[in-house]
Amino acid sequence: MPQPDDASLFTPYALGGLQLRNRVVMASMTRGRARNAELAPTELHVEYYRQRATAGLVLTEGTWISPRAIGFVNAPGLFTERQIAGWRAVTSAVHSEGGAIFAQLAHSGAVSHPDFFDGELPPAPSAVNPGLRSFTPGGFKDTVTPRAMSVEEIASTVADYGAAAKNAREAGFDGVELHAATTYLLPEFLNSALNIREDGYGGSAANRTRIVLEVLDALIAVWGPGRVGIKISPTLAVGGFELTDKTIETYDYLIGRLNELPLSHVQIGRPMNDLSGTAVAALQDTIGYYRPRFKGTLIANSGFDRDSANTAIGSKQADLVSFAKPFIGNPDLVRRFREDLPLATSSPETYYQGGAQGYVDYPTAI
Ligand SMILES: Cc1cc2nc3c(=O)[nH]c(=O)nc-3n(C[C@H](O)[C@H](O)[C@H](O)COP(=O)(O)O)c2cc1C
Repeated sequence: MPQPDDASLFTPYALGGLQLRNRVVMASMTRGRARNAELAPTELHVEYYRQRATAGLVLTEGTWISPRAIGFVNAPGLFTERQIAGWRAVTSAVHSEGGAIFAQLAHSGAVSHPDFFDGELPPAPSAVNPGLRSFTPGGFKDTVTPRAMSVEEIASTVADYGAAAKNAREAGFDGVELHAATTYLLPEFLNSALNIREDGYGGSAANRTRIVLEVLDALIAVWGPGRVGIKISPTLAVGGFELTDKTIETYDYLIGRLNELPLSHVQIGRPMNDLSGTAVAALQDTIGYYRPRFKGTLIANSGFDRDSANTAIGSKQADLVSFAKPFIGNPDLVRRFREDLPLATSSPETYYQGGAQGYVDYPTAI
């Protein structure tokens, strides 16, 4: 879409046939409030998302595509009728406020834990421990060496993504975003330290990205053009997620392939740390690096505020900008940005767990 020269966070944006009211995107946040055995969204979720529906686009928390994908305590799913019904209440609340909402589809892979699977090992690209912590029902536990998925299990996982995408339609979402960022299953496949497979899903950049592209095909088969996005974080380095000389090559290849797909958007997280001296020093200005390489709608993420976001949009580096943490304490973030009101702070103790407190009790600006 040609961009007006004076675009800002408050300029509407046409995304996949949806008319977004502004370019402020609410980024996905796992908040651990699905505190019921079926991991279904509750009335609390309805209220939380309704309060934040003035964002041009809301992206839900990472939402499990299947029981095998689970890997964070009290995060919701999208694979049972009750979960679909719970999400339907969320989407209708957001729509009744005039907002748009995509479901973020997630599979935790090796950062899950046997506690989620009656003692069985979590599935992953290879049997390599990511060296991270898993937030289990019994608290934080060290990750274990997972089991390598068979080719058949990869195919059934791709099918699970497709089924969750159908469920997202049934639940009234406007689209889906594939969670291929942070430490979950898909970035594990993309990472040459965690994916040491020697079959068609490991080795070369084309092979490591294969599962991501297969999943996107499955999602697009359900949703059609303009309603499937993807989030990536090429520079993330935690635990066994090593940044190597393969990182840039892998993501360059992926971006090239994404250009061939009718995606709604690619959301890219930028690094908050200094990458000089690392294998990915060229990605320090991540958005500047990928902007000329990706031809579609680019959502920039990580560490933005009102001014830096307006600069990114005004200079056409990004089409939209997403905000995560600022939305926790500021349900009316769009208005605060528009009127240049001060932002409220939020309490990290209730980011990932708890009930209504620290979730739906942040007031709007007076
Ligand atoms: C509480 C919390 C939960 C998060 N959960 C997710 C998630 O489920 N999926 C995801 O892609 N990113 C998740 N993130 C990352 C954010 O979407 C975002 O990429 C990151 O916080 C940087 O944006 P910010 O600087 O605006 O907060 C989470 C971040 C926070 C603070």
